[in-house]
Formats: sequence, C-alpha cells, structure tokens
Amino acid sequence: MSTSETNGPIVLCVANQKGGVGKTTTAINVSAALARRKKRVLLLDLDAQGNASSIFLSAPPAAEKSAYGVFKDRRPIATLLERTRIDGLSLLPANVHLAEVETLLAGAVDGFFRLSDSLSAADTGQDFVVVDCPPNLGLLTVNAFVSATHLLIPLQTAKFSLDGLRTMLDTSAMIRKRFNAGLSLLGALITMHNARTTISQAIAEPIEDFISLFKTRISRAVAIEEAHLLNQTIFEYQSRSRVAREYDAFTEELLNAIEKG
Ligand SMILES: Nc1ncnc2c1ncn2[C@@H]1O[C@H](COP(=O)(O)OP(=O)(O)OP(=O)(O)O)[C@@H](O)[C@H]1O
Ligand SMILES: [Mg+2]
Repeated sequence: MSTSETNGPIVLCVANQKGGVGKTTTAINVSAALARRKKRVLLLDLDAQGNASSIFLSAPPAAEKSAYGVFKDRRPIATLLERTRIDGLSLLPANVHLAEVETLLAGAVDGFFRLSDSLSAADTGQDFVVVDCPPNLGLLTVNAFVSATHLLIPLQTAKFSLDGLRTMLDTSAMIRKRFNAGLSLLGALITMHNARTTISQAIAEPIEDFISLFKTRISRAVAIEEAHLLNQTIFEYQSRSRVAREYDAFTEELLNAIEKG
C-alpha cells in the first residue's frame, strides 16, 4: 500500500505534546501488528529518550547510525535502517543527541524539511513508516508533521487537555496549509482506558466535538507494562491478551481509515 500521489510509503505520525499518553506503546504495537499483516514497516524513533528503540536494541546506537544522522548530516533514511527480530519490521533508532537537534537546526533554512528530504532521497522499500514523536511540538515533531501522510493522536482521558488538543490541531492545520497539504488527520485513539470508570466515557464524548475517535479503545493493562519491562511487543509477550487483541483491532480500523482516505 502506498500513497497515490507520491507512490511513497504511508507515513503515520504518532504525536501528542502531552507526555506519557501512550505514543510509544502505540507506535511499537501498531508497527508490530502491521508487520504481522505482511506489511514492510519502518519504526522511526524521534524521541531522544529512545523508548521505542530499547524494545529492539540492547544498547543505543552510535549517533551517526541513529535518527540524529538524518538531522545532522542529512543522511538518507534508506542508509540508516536496521532490521529487527520481527519479520518485515525495521527500525531507525533514536540517540540522546536528538535532544540537540533543536539547537543544531536553529536558523537552518531547511530545518523543517530534513526528515522529509531524507525519506524521499532514496526508496526505503517500506509500505509504512511509523513515527514515534517526542512529547512536545518542537522541531522534531514539526519535521514529522511535514513528512507525514497521516496523523494519529493517542489520548489518555485522564490526562486530556482541550487546550493541548487545540494547540496540536492548530499546528497540524498550519503545517497542512504551508508545507504539507497531503497531511490527513486520522483521529484520536483512547489509550489506557478503564471501562469501569464512567469518567473515561464522560470525557470521551465531548472530545468528539473536536476530533474523531477510533471505535477501538486500548484498555489499561498490566501486560503492557510487563511487555515493556521485558523489551517485547504485546504480540511477543501475550498475543492472546485482551490488549493485544485491541491493538490488532485498532490496526485493522486504522488500515480501513487510511484506505478510505
Ligand atoms: N494500555 C496501557 N496499559 C497500561 N500501561 C500503559 C498502557 N499504555 C502505556 N502504558 C504505560 O504508560 C507509560 C507511558 O506510555 P508511553 O511511553 O507509551 O507514552 P508516551 O506518550 O510515549 O510517553 P512520552 O511522552 O514520555 O514519550 C509507560 O510506562 C507505559 O508502559
Ligand atoms: Mg514516548
């Protein structure tokens, strides 16, 4: 599957400037679920914390072999990606130096475009690129917005802030207007959902006035935390668990949403 205009990969940007809402968990497990469907997937870790990378690597990569190389040396992504233990899933890992990109690119005229240039420099051979963004709307996230074909916003109802959501939607609208008319806002995914508390439901409804919500919700589940501790995806750790089935169902819903355009 690829975007019709460019014939490049679907670039799915997983973003929310709020911290700890399930961006990385979603990026990892959606990537794994896509690979299980025989898609060729690149997981791109843009967070200096390197949480997504640590699921697949025992040690952080050298700076020049990480996503930092894209921003510092304009290296084409096709030359940087690493295969993972999961068939069909490659990784472009993060490195702590990503935290310096903001300063490094201050004043660089192509500062917003390094990622998209690097993605289009050579065929990466991927059907999907899933971008795990850091918890802010800085230069790395802007690079992801500029490169993306689709935007997915994980939301944790307990941490929901209407102002935060507005800022993010405004930013994506501005990016669409000025830099990337093809950026499609897919909607929000509720994560760490607790069906037993009415609060989750009460908050979900007003959110729908601002952004469409995916039908599938991801439950709060200890299995997710256990899988992270063991550096595994939920499909490796407990593929039959409820939360694994939710991530799988969500991925199906996501594919349908992308298909519909
Ligand atoms: N469905 C879930 N059930 C239980 N715990 C979860 C679930 N999803 C994520 N978590 C836990 O919540 C924490 C935050 O999740 P995650 O790292 O995916 O969020 P994030 O938005 O990427 O955070 P950051 O903004 O720091 O990058 C982690 O400790 C993770 O293990
Ligand atoms: Mg994260």
